[in-house]
Amino acid sequence: MTDLSIYLSCESDTVTLARQVAEAARKGDIIGLTGNLGAGKTAFARAFIQARTGIDEVPSPTFTLVQVYDRDTGSPSIWHMDLYRLEPGADVEELGIEDAMADGILLVEWPDRLDSATLENWVEITLSLADDPSARTVSIGAHGDLARAFHGRIAKATAA
Ligand SMILES: Nc1ncnc2c1ncn2[C@@H]1O[C@H](COP(=O)(O)OP(=O)(O)OP(=O)(O)O)[C@@H](O)[C@H]1O
Ligand SMILES: [Mg+2]
Repeated sequence: MTDLSIYLSCESDTVTLARQVAEAARKGDIIGLTGNLGAGKTAFARAFIQARTGIDEVPSPTFTLVQVYDRDTGSPSIWHMDLYRLEPGADVEELGIEDAMADGILLVEWPDRLDSATLENWVEITLSLADDPSARTVSIGAHGDLARAFHGRIAKATAA
């Protein structure tokens, strides 16, 4: 399965992509957001959460490491993690990562901070700076067979 490559010319393109991915996401789906500081991982997560919950206020979980958003009964909660400041050897169980993976949709910035065995089936969205200050390139790939269905739904949603 080939990675998707997308060019975002401005921040509203990032918002549009986040909305499309939000529509494609189902309970149990995991998105790892990778890319340098300031690449737009939180901007993407914020637009994703706003699209799914209608909640305006979506702070970066820079220091709390995790923020949970519940919509209403019947729709999965959304777990937003930023693991940049995760201490090496810290217990990620305490962040609720098992619950997030079982019952919610997990968005995790800096997933490389986790033990490589923690995430098994996940979609990786990598944001990179591009030629223009407001432009980004994005690559979307899948890790693990079970992430392929989600990746396929994203491919469909972004092709429209
Ligand atoms: N096309 C774009 N997509 C996303 N963000 C953009 C874009 N163009 C400009 N920006 C700006 O880039 C910055 C991205 O910051 P953001 O906090 O989302 O980065 P981050 O990847 O989460 O960084 P960190 O690793 O520090 O958490 C914001 O100030 C945003 O307004
Ligand atoms: Mg961030």
